[in-house]
Amino acid sequence: MTRLIFLGPPGAGKGTQAKILASEYQIPHISTGDILREAVKTQTPLGQKAQSYMDQGELVPDHLIIDLIKERLGQSDAAQGWILDGFPRNVSQASFLEKLLTELDLTADSVLNLEVPDEVLVERLLARKRKDDNEETIRRRLEIYHKDTVPVISFYRDRDLLQVVAGNAPMKEVTDSLKAIIESN
Ligand code: AP5
Repeated sequence: MTRLIFLGPPGAGKGTQAKILASEYQIPHISTGDILREAVKTQTPLGQKAQSYMDQGELVPDHLIIDLIKERLGQSDAAQGWILDGFPRNVSQASFLEKLLTELDLTADSVLNLEVPDEVLVERLLARKRKDDNEETIRRRLEIYHKDTVPVISFYRDRDLLQVVAGNAPMKEVTDSLKAIIESN
């Protein structure tokens, strides 16, 4: 069973790599961003509440995300393991996850932090053209990342779970680095 958390700034390649590895290890890729975008697309109550935050590059309020994660990790396919992408995004989400996993008598195997310089991130995101990939929103997402998400790195370093991977390399090389770490655990 493999339980992984992917950290990294917007554009680091979390989603790209999580998809590849989830397929390889036959475990679900749980992306809070993908779940929220689907909710916005289908205009569920969650989507209606989340939309304006996402459009502005702000974090969606914790209580909405926490309910969503609790529900998703309780689904039957998650018993085989999972890759979390985009969660936790701040220390309060990380503390919630730690508590939830303790209740379930589980721990994460590894927290993989993809490092990529800001200027490369901006270039990648502008080329991708997702709805929130415009210069102003990207700048705000990076600010929020540095303010709220960077402290999550220390949270996991203090628990000896953090491993750092250079994300500014060709995709296949990044996949190989991640696999080497995961398979050595
Ligand atoms: P989310 O969907 O999580 O977006 P993000 O963190 O901004 O991450 P991205 O999807 O932009 O980047 P990524 O690291 O996955 O990179 P990707 O693989 O796509 O969140 C969106 C919004 O939802 C948030 O702003 C917030 O509002 C809300 N939200 C989500 N989770 C939340 C939470 N927990 N709490 C509160 N709010 C939450 O790659 C990017 C591009 O780079 C692609 O085009 C890809 O092809 C390219 N690329 C990838 N790897 C490489 C490589 N090695 N070389 C060259 N190009 C590459």
